[in-house]
Amino acid sequence: MTQINYRKNELFVEDIALSSIAKTYNTPCYVYSRKAIESNWLAYDQALAKHDHLVCYAVKANSNIAVINLLARLGSGFDIVSIGELERVIRAGGDPAKVVFAGVAKRADEMRRALEVGIRCFNVESEQELERLNLVAANMDLKAPISIRVNPDVDAGTHPYISTGLKENKFGIAMEQALSVYQRAAKMNNIEIIGTGCHIGSQLTGMEPFVDALKRVLHLADQLEAEGITLKQIDIGGGLGICYNNEVPPTHQEYADAILPLLADRDLTLLIEPGRSIVGNAGVLLTEVEYLKSNDEKSFAIVDAAMNDLMRPSLYNAWQNIQPVVIKDITEQEYDVVGPVCETGDFLGRARSLKIEQGDLLVVRSAGAYGFTMSSTYNSRPRIAEILIDTDQAHLIRRRETIDELMVGESTLPK
Ligand code: LLP
Repeated sequence: MTQINYRKNELFVEDIALSSIAKTYNTPCYVYSRKAIESNWLAYDQALAKHDHLVCYAVKANSNIAVINLLARLGSGFDIVSIGELERVIRAGGDPAKVVFAGVAKRADEMRRALEVGIRCFNVESEQELERLNLVAANMDLKAPISIRVNPDVDAGTHPYISTGLKENKFGIAMEQALSVYQRAAKMNNIEIIGTGCHIGSQLTGMEPFVDALKRVLHLADQLEAEGITLKQIDIGGGLGICYNNEVPPTHQEYADAILPLLADRDLTLLIEPGRSIVGNAGVLLTEVEYLKSNDEKSFAIVDAAMNDLMRPSLYNAWQNIQPVVIKDITEQEYDVVGPVCETGDFLGRARSLKIEQGDLLVVRSAGAYGFTMSSTYNSRPRIAEILIDTDQAHLIRRRETIDELMVGESTLPK
């Protein structure tokens, strides 16, 4: 249920036609559905209801404060990787006590700020980080709550750039070292051990890697218990993959049914950190065809959005569906859908069969996650607007950047 569907021949987000959004706000822009975002979060929360749990939305997927605010109102926790993300959560009304802080390179100033606002826990990724955190907390006369992110060495079977739970990856602490790092942590005066966890990768479309990883982490929890270290929470990282093309990820219920039995007799709060599956299919990138251009080899649909606005196709060769906003009864042709940026890698989709004319509107589907957040101003293209649809109301939740704003903070040398 994406809330993004054709009504007759026209694509709508909830009750608003995307062509009217283009008229009001111009293109390119991101358009999100409130209902889709909320129902995706609630689906996890309800599926896990039998066990004590906290769904911590991964802010990196879509960090607009309106999106964070919607989830905060539902009671969501948040998974953050920087102080920038923490400040967004606070600004959006999120509860710092429900924030978990991941990342391999946490700075002392970031630790201080996170301790000051009282986050739920630091997901510690190295022994060195643990030492720094202990010092920072000591200076503040506090105890820092921690969970060590272990690397369970499980192959998530996803794209190598977004697979994170293998030994060759930079994340977490190797399983073999985890016990001794916990023992060190237990002796530190300003560290409070509250849990353990892992994150093995993103866009997972099967349950097996999640289950394998969880079993390994639970085995560690048992070893720790035997050493007198009792944990309160276990964090199994990011959420389910989504359907971009023809993937069939597990349902929320299947996810819960695979995971909860493993936790049934344990007094451990389950934390999950889904991002993509909350917002991915709740959003589209709306763009206009500037030109249709052909040579002997190929036809190009040149649109006004580019790799700087949506990087996934260029960066991961990711396939995202491209559809016309209005279905027309004209000849179909195969196009590479490309943007204005001066790079051959600037494409949103290749070899797409489309019935389109110059001036038509297109959407790139599944663009609500890792879309705007990964965008840049490359080629001095201002960052685009974001619009949130709530039933029959459209809200501009981030206005288009201006050319002046592109140069904010820059200066020329004195004469
Ligand atoms: N927790 C941690 C520690 C993470 O590193 C991530 C994602 C998540 C949670 C959220 O995972 P999700 O539920 O979204 O799968 N830019 C890439 C995805 C990078 C994911 C990075 N970490 C893409 O566009 O596919």
